[in-house]
Amino acid sequence: MDYQSVLDAIVDEVRPLVGEGKVADYIPALARVPAERFGIALYTVDGEVALAGDALEAFSIQSVSKVFSLTLVLQRVGEKLWQHLGREPSGDPFNSLMQLEVEQGKARNPFINAGAICVADQLTSLSDDPKAELLNLVSTLCGEAVGFDVEVAESERATGFRNAALANFMKSFGKIDNDVDRVLDVYFNQCSIAMNCVQMARAMAYLANAGVQPVAGREIVTPRQARRINALMLTCGTYDAAGEFAFLIGLPCKSGVGGGIVAVVPGELALCVWSPGLGSTGNSVAGMRALELFVAKTGLSVF
Ligand code: DON
Repeated sequence: MDYQSVLDAIVDEVRPLVGEGKVADYIPALARVPAERFGIALYTVDGEVALAGDALEAFSIQSVSKVFSLTLVLQRVGEKLWQHLGREPSGDPFNSLMQLEVEQGKARNPFINAGAICVADQLTSLSDDPKAELLNLVSTLCGEAVGFDVEVAESERATGFRNAALANFMKSFGKIDNDVDRVLDVYFNQCSIAMNCVQMARAMAYLANAGVQPVAGREIVTPRQARRINALMLTCGTYDAAGEFAFLIGLPCKSGVGGGIVAVVPGELALCVWSPGLGSTGNSVAGMRALELFVAKTGLSVF
């Protein structure tokens, strides 16, 4: 397949939508990102790269980082993680508190904020330096050094009252083992990682390749874990839009409020789109349309 032509055509077709939606402004450092950006890149299981638009411009990966933190914890504790965490879609916004009270502080899944904070707590228990380990994993996955954006992380901390509420609420049910501030420090920093679309597509390619990093041949997770991470991305990766994503796109996806969305085509490739304007569910408007166009043009789908 001529992926480069597919991506070039998508950039043209999606152009009228670029700038639509609203750039996340509840984290002040994110509000400054220009809305008029669109990038797309893919990385195949054979190591082929294609990119178009602003694919080399770094963006704040935000909740896409939840895939990496989940991967790191699964590497360490395997299935024991599920003693602490559920794996059902929430159907609620990513930062919702509602279900937590009914469900006694146990987060529904690792991709809503409560679940990702629970994963950050597990990491804090497992490692003397969880932030460094996470950066090390992400850098290994994308084949070059990536870093935290200190200003974004600080801005998240200064305004993260909802996340602090989630963490404290879970702690009140005995579901968080470590000091809440330490756990939130891991979570805010993981969200602040800056990457571009090419790095992100390459970093996620292990999920398209049964857990093994293409070209490098390194096993990141077992084939079963890779299948399960993809299943969670499909059902929970885009929050209360997960049903719509499955219907319109039909691929495991994970989004972030920085405007990035990652999609996995098992056995074929990982794809990353980025455009900062978000719709009402916190997903990139142009990014979502680009993914729809990609599956229409290539016929790739898990269904
Ligand atoms: O927890 C937050 O508010 C952000 N740092 C991450 C949220 C996010 O990206 C949710 N995704 N759509």
